[in-house]
Amino acid sequence: MIEAIRLIESALAGADGLHVANPATGEAIATVRAWSTAEVAGAIARADRARAGWAALTASGRAEVLRKWYELILANEAVLAEAVTAEAGKPLAEALAEVRYGAAYVQWFAEEGRRANGEVIPTFANDRRVLTIRQGVGTCTAITPWNFPVAMVTRKAAPALAAGCAIVVKPAEATPISALALEWLGQRAGLPEGLFAVTPTGDPAGVGRVFCTHPLVRKLSFTGSTRVGKVLMAQAADQVLRLSLELGGNAPFIVMDDADLDRAVRGVMDAKFRNAGQTCVCANRLLVHDTVHDAFVAKLGAAVASLKVGDGRDEGVQIGPLISPEAARRVAALVADAVGAGAQVVAEAACDAASPAFAAPCVVTGVTPAMALASSEIFGPVAAVIRVSSEAEAITIANDTPYGLAAYLFTADTGRAWRMMEALEFGMVAINDGRLSSEVAPFGGVKQSGFGREGSSHGLTEYMEIKYALLGL
Ligand code: SIN
Repeated sequence: MIEAIRLIESALAGADGLHVANPATGEAIATVRAWSTAEVAGAIARADRARAGWAALTASGRAEVLRKWYELILANEAVLAEAVTAEAGKPLAEALAEVRYGAAYVQWFAEEGRRANGEVIPTFANDRRVLTIRQGVGTCTAITPWNFPVAMVTRKAAPALAAGCAIVVKPAEATPISALALEWLGQRAGLPEGLFAVTPTGDPAGVGRVFCTHPLVRKLSFTGSTRVGKVLMAQAADQVLRLSLELGGNAPFIVMDDADLDRAVRGVMDAKFRNAGQTCVCANRLLVHDTVHDAFVAKLGAAVASLKVGDGRDEGVQIGPLISPEAARRVAALVADAVGAGAQVVAEAACDAASPAFAAPCVVTGVTPAMALASSEIFGPVAAVIRVSSEAEAITIANDTPYGLAAYLFTADTGRAWRMMEALEFGMVAINDGRLSSEVAPFGGVKQSGFGREGSSHGLTEYMEIKYALLGL
């Protein structure tokens, strides 16, 4: 039994609950209570009632509770990391890094809440004064994904709570345990009963509809697929609900002829193979300049072939299973389709894991933009390499996608770096680096990757309204 089960005892259920299994082995971990749509509507009403007292606290009063939550998350980081590995399959070291990353959002927004300043605007008339204040939007809902079962919860809940809002979170069906443990720790930190509620369900579509249509809800934040994001957006229209949507990506990773190739390979190992390729910001298409293509592929192939694949609980494992056997089958089909159309698998890591949820990390060359491997979000450990022969061609191929979340660019020329960064139609561009996520930076996309920003001061703004006050003297 994993330790986190001790924390979430009251959320455990019998056979009619939500069954959570370890993707590395298929073993059952726990069965948690599955909330019905009517129960979720009740949780929203309770959260809304708890909100009035919370919103009436000073920003410092709220910050103290959030700070305590942050400290409790860190004090229980090993327990949370074990839960993340068990339910999401992520290697333990990576799971621990995620817990710390998730905690950093709580720390950040505890402080940021104190800086939710208003303005005094130079007046338009001498007998009037023009002011603004910022207030929490009200009761919020959030739908979080399985690939970051801790960090995506804190990245939404912490700014909402810092802004004086209540929030009800539906975690992914595969990974409710970490979210329930976060809720338990939040209660120990002093969050009022029901203010931050986690409601796992076996009816995600029904609960999504409640989140969008319940009259007490003022905002929904969603991280997940573009397909589901569009459904939620349509449902949210009736209430004119505020939305933050962090949707799919198709990140280009450009390596120009003047790039430091060792640095670029390190960048791919970060940007492509984090969480076995299962992040929205994972490099999806490697656009490599003709003149360095072969040297780059040789170095990358050696690095990928040496990756250790296995159960995330085992020492030294770098790549765990995908979230499910279906996910692994989908990735294998994308590779087979590309190979059938002329691409080649030129390097592959050893993968002797018994579970069908594993996918062997590999490098595929000879990929063209027309292949499904280049146009769909792979969400697996496959580095798909496309040759390019100029800066203009790299930009054209990179931008030729409905998505616009993250892009990566490796070049030694600062002028070119700036020029290409400006030309890339993405919400985030990393130059000579493979990791861009941080609580201090605004995370979010353009085009069909969604809108809204998480983290940074902008992440708090998403949960606040601006009220203009005119004072006649
Ligand atoms: C995501 O995949 O949605 C989040 C990735 C990150 O925060 O770096």
